[in-house]
Amino acid sequence: TSTTPEGVTRDVPRVAVPGRVRPRRLRATPTVRRLVQQHRVHASDLVLPVFVREGLDEPRPLQAMPGVVQHTRDSLRRAAVEAAEAGLGGVMVFGIPEHRDAVGTMASDPAGVLNVALADLAAEVGDALSVQADLCLDEFTDHGHCGVLTADGRVDNDATLVRYVDMALAQAEAGAALLGLSGMMDGQVGAVRDALDAAGYGDVAVLAYAAKYASAFYGPFREAVESELQGDRRAYQMDPANRREALREVELDIAEGADVVMVKPAMSYLDVLADVAAVSTVPVAAYQVSGEYAMIEAAAAQGWIDRRRAVEESVLGIRRAGADVVLTYWATELAGWLAEGR
Ligand code: PBG
Repeated sequence: TSTTPEGVTRDVPRVAVPGRVRPRRLRATPTVRRLVQQHRVHASDLVLPVFVREGLDEPRPLQAMPGVVQHTRDSLRRAAVEAAEAGLGGVMVFGIPEHRDAVGTMASDPAGVLNVALADLAAEVGDALSVQADLCLDEFTDHGHCGVLTADGRVDNDATLVRYVDMALAQAEAGAALLGLSGMMDGQVGAVRDALDAAGYGDVAVLAYAAKYASAFYGPFREAVESELQGDRRAYQMDPANRREALREVELDIAEGADVVMVKPAMSYLDVLADVAAVSTVPVAAYQVSGEYAMIEAAAAQGWIDRRRAVEESVLGIRRAGADVVLTYWATELAGWLAEGR
């Protein structure tokens, strides 16, 4: 018992005190918190995905991705300069053509929207950051699949590789430094690597979307690239239920010559990302995709979460799970916040 100054006697509960070991010592002040911070996000780890749309006069805002636009050729250049000034590691360019067909002809045409944009950016910011190209057919095909189709409507893996090789050579010719192979065809890394080397583009790097899942979180991206996909991508993208299979994809892609491997999406696949980071012998990237962006923006717009803190925490979490490089639509804004914090 104890007695208060007022003379009241009461029972004092006996609690075990922690004694010597007190983790809060390292959380007590901003100074010590900064000292012991284990993981950090750097602007140079961030890659900004950007969309360029053929035939636009003005940048066009995307409804499901507030703050993100389809760029014109000129506004894309400005966004890339801004990204370079913010110290980003790179920009990943997606092109939206005016005309589509069954085999995605405009993907490998040097005058196609993506290749023209890559040439613009290589000239404008190629010395300041990594100019990266999405290498996939879905933006260029009228059926919206990532490859060419067989007569009975399935995605034809090996025929698609021929198109990827054409695309890779056009992108390398345009000046892209790194090609992001996002189609999930078997053998795509080896096919593209061989073709690049044979054509004298030995320095052009390959980022393999090694573990890319068939995800609902790509939803807003469909609006961004105006894709009307017929069916779904489950016959080539990975089943969200599968964790072990990611390591098989990573192993294959590294064996085929991938310079960087990626896990996508990010936030629902942090276990996969940690697995991959634990075994990969090449740098690991993660893509915080359109739906992840949209969720946080939507909740923040309602006032339900603090936007800046949620963005920072989400990207930090992806880094903590093991990503060396993070593709995020917040890259430029986040880099600005990081600069403020220094
Ligand atoms: C395929 C590709 C997609 C995304 C990036 N590359 C779409 C898909 O596979 O369905 C999605 C990116 C995002 O949602 O932010 N070219």
